[in-house]
Formats: sequence, C-alpha cells, structure tokens
Amino acid sequence: MIQVEGLTKRYARQVAVDNISFEVNQGEIVGFLGPNGAGKTTTMRVLTCYMPPTAGSAKVAGFDVYESPMEVKRRIGYLPETPPLYPEMEVGDYLKFVAKLKRVPSGDVNRRVDEVAERCSIADVKDRLISKLSKGYRQRVGLAQAIIHNPEVLILDEPTSGLDPKQIIETRELIKGLAGDHTIILSTHILPEVEAICQKVIIINKGKLVATDSVDNLTHRMHGSDASVVVVDTAGQADSTAVQQRLEQVSGVSKVLGRHVEDSGFTYEVESLAGRDVRADIARVIVQSGWNLHELKSVSFSLEEVFLELTGGQAPQEGAE
Ligand SMILES: Nc1ncnc2c1ncn2[C@@H]1O[C@H](COP(=O)(O)OP(=O)(O)O)[C@@H](O)[C@H]1O
Ligand SMILES: [Mg+2]
Repeated sequence: MIQVEGLTKRYARQVAVDNISFEVNQGEIVGFLGPNGAGKTTTMRVLTCYMPPTAGSAKVAGFDVYESPMEVKRRIGYLPETPPLYPEMEVGDYLKFVAKLKRVPSGDVNRRVDEVAERCSIADVKDRLISKLSKGYRQRVGLAQAIIHNPEVLILDEPTSGLDPKQIIETRELIKGLAGDHTIILSTHILPEVEAICQKVIIINKGKLVATDSVDNLTHRMHGSDASVVVVDTAGQADSTAVQQRLEQVSGVSKVLGRHVEDSGFTYEVESLAGRDVRADIARVIVQSGWNLHELKSVSFSLEEVFLELTGGQAPQEGAE
C-alpha cells in the first residue's frame, strides 16, 4: 500500500530524512518510532504531499507523491501534530466543511458526518464550539476529519501526545478500531504505544532507518536468542561456578550471561538459541545433580532494550506527557 524508496529530505542546512526505504502492506498498523527530531513528521509530510522529497520516491496505493499528488491525497487521511481545527466553528459544521473540501458527494455529507461522529465518539458534542472542547475531544475531532472521506491510508502524527492517561487509552482504542478498514501509520516517541497498538515498527533515528520488523520479531531477532532466569540452591553441595558449568553443558544453551550469588541460592540468566525451549532440560539437570530448583522462567527482551541497542543508547522519552 505504501512504498518508500531511498527517501531523502533536506532542509536548508540539515538532512532531516536520510535515504530511508520501507513498505507498509494493506491493513497494517505500523508504528513510526523515534526520538524527537528523528524525522518522523518530515517523512509524514512527504507522504501526505505537503512537501516534495529532495531525493527518492514515495508511493501510496501505486501513486507517486510527486507525480500524482491529487490521487495520493484522495487516498490519505492525515492527522498532523496539531489538528487543523477552526475553534470558532461547531463540530458538526466543521466536519461538513471538511467533507465538502475532501469531495464527499453532497448527498452523502450528512450521513458521513454522522458515521464518523459515531465512530469517534463525538456525536454528543456535534453542536459544541470546537474552542470549548477538551484536548481529548479535539483529538477525536481531528481523527474524524482524517477519516471523513473514508481514505485507504491514515497517517497520524503523534496522535496521543498531550493527552491525559485516560484520553490516551481511549484514543488508542479508537485507532485500533479503525484498523482493518484502513492502513495506518502512526508516529510516536513512546515505546509502550507501539507495543499497545502496532503490529509492525519502523524505527528511525537522526533521519536514518534503524530497523523495520514486526514488534514480535524485533524483540527476538535482536539477540537471536531467548533468555531464562534460573535460581538454584545447592545447600552447600556445589559452588556457583560448578552450577554454571553444568548449565553451560545443557543442549541449546548458548551462554550464561549473569550470575548472582545470595544466601538463598544462585541466580543465573541463561541465553538460549532462538526458538529452543531449554527450560525442561535445565530443570532435569539441576534435579539430577541433587540441587533445589527455586525458580525457572523465560524472559523476553522489551522493545525498549531493543531500541537502546539499535540506536546506540539514545532512548526515546518514556511515558505520557
Ligand atoms: N521546516 C523545517 N526547516 C528546517 N529544519 C526542520 C524543519 N522541520 C524539521 N526540521 C528539522 O529536521 C529534523 C527532523 O524533524 P522532524 O521531522 O520534525 O522530526 P520528528 O517528527 O521525528 O520529531 C529536526 O532536526 C528538525 O529540527
Ligand atoms: Mg514530529
């Protein structure tokens, strides 16, 4: 549905987006993740035909943003960082205005406004002035204007930024509800947001593409491995090095990463080859050695750890504003 190839955008003195390529398939929700200044908004502006690329190309539904901007705009709903709202208009009138602007056939405008108002849970404020709305409601009106012409693709720039925690949850639910009918790219600098909403993640940092993969794959591919935590108590029969050596001999175990010695027992972090569940074998070895197994659990690396490793330690801001 979206193909970006070698996209570069240079401002006067600065390369904001540097030769990035990615694809988004129909119906996917993709998170565009990166710290502030990474180039997310710039990429989105190119995709929505707000400005041309310096080099490279971007296609939406087969149409090039530079050669066929009208065709692209017709197929895209865009929610910029600051929604393009008119404070002095009533919500319903504003949506009718946008519907006409986006060429919704005049016979369909009222029905369409009712549909999106319902979908975005703003039917109860249709007669209110936009200036009187809370930030959360404004954001929903922003989403309503983005989907009014039923576009195939939705581009949402930091759709939850500036909302309170309850509004964030509501907005995320709303976006998830729009999936399926639409292909969605949303940008965020908040990691949990990607895990909460997206199936796929495109990570950019300083204008460069760092990684693109499914959220699940990325956390795995990262280390090419899984990890388990094992807590063993030998009741003084063996020292921690001896236990470690036994663990290293278990088939499928690639490495024993960490070792922590306490009175209650020894704790190890064991790395295993990807896709190999070594827990049963570890348990058997420990029990057969006559030791006590206090704990055994698998752990997976969080997207945050992945991000830190991929971007060389520059973490995006955490949590809600
Ligand atoms: N209109 C502009 N003129 C000059 N530089 C800009 C402009 N817009 C953004 N930039 C710069 O380009 C880089 C990428 O910005 P942006 O795309 O807004 O990143 P993000 O949305 O990921 O925070 C930043 O360093 C920013 O300062
Ligand atoms: Mg931005």
